[in-house]
Amino acid sequence: HRHLLGIEPLSPGDITAILDLAETYVDLNRCAEKHSDVLAGLTQINMFFENSTRTQASFELAGKRLGADVMNMAMQTSSVKKGETLIDTALTLNAMHPDLLVVRHPQSGAVDLLAQKVNCAVLNAGDGRHEHPTQALLDALTIRRAKGRLHRLSVAICGDIAHSRVARSNLLLLGKMENRIRLIGPPTLMPSQISEFGVEVFDDMAEGLADVDVVMMLRLQRERMDGGFIPSEREYYHRYGLDAEKLALAKPDAIVMHPGPMNRGVEIDGTLADDINRSVIQEQVEMGVAVRMAAMELLARNLRAAAA
Ligand code: CP
Repeated sequence: HRHLLGIEPLSPGDITAILDLAETYVDLNRCAEKHSDVLAGLTQINMFFENSTRTQASFELAGKRLGADVMNMAMQTSSVKKGETLIDTALTLNAMHPDLLVVRHPQSGAVDLLAQKVNCAVLNAGDGRHEHPTQALLDALTIRRAKGRLHRLSVAICGDIAHSRVARSNLLLLGKMENRIRLIGPPTLMPSQISEFGVEVFDDMAEGLADVDVVMMLRLQRERMDGGFIPSEREYYHRYGLDAEKLALAKPDAIVMHPGPMNRGVEIDGTLADDINRSVIQEQVEMGVAVRMAAMELLARNLRAAAA
């Protein structure tokens, strides 16, 4: 593959190859010396048109640990604020010969469009409600390490599914790897064409969580609820917030995940989120650096092969 735009075009073999390479970077990142030269001589530009903590920091660290020259575009102070379009901005940066472009954008499809206009490899860091492929890959690595496998698991994805690119990428990835997926949330926060994914849908946490191996919570994405359904936080937490009582319905060794940023006391109880016996939320962040290192290394190999 030339780009990493989504999980959709990846095969199970592609996914396994990224996760296997990422395992080696988990080990490197735990060393005192966290350095490799696999991206030496390459230029990585990060363009985030939407806020980020985890994705931006981990892509920057990933590039630096692999020896790339990394530039973070400050989009708030760029000429985008003077009205320059996404494509003109991309063409301008493309003229400076980057090798890897990491892009987050609020509009679904914007990163795919940009990838058609530039010569370098593009990595989607989240586009609207479409895809967030490196999040699904880091979630997959976290699950595989915690459960010892990434197939025939029962995974509940809970909350605001309709607005979530994390849910969409995870549905695609977990489906390709032959897991059983349950979606739990209010009908108003379920996407309309959910039947095409071949999943079970529940609006009751007690029914949906029964005997699952993995509980993946999602943030209520108020910024994408333009005038539509905005539930009261108290009511939402009562019905759909994950606490120890609801988690007790899942398997006794079920793990708790959340991509972050979290709304404590809205979709998840703060004490449960911090419970290192059940919550793998910090591991997810750790895996994020390793997975992004692996994804960039694999794209760089393809770039070099194409140039040879
Ligand atoms: N999970 C995730 O994408 O977090 P950020 O928005 O902080 O990057």
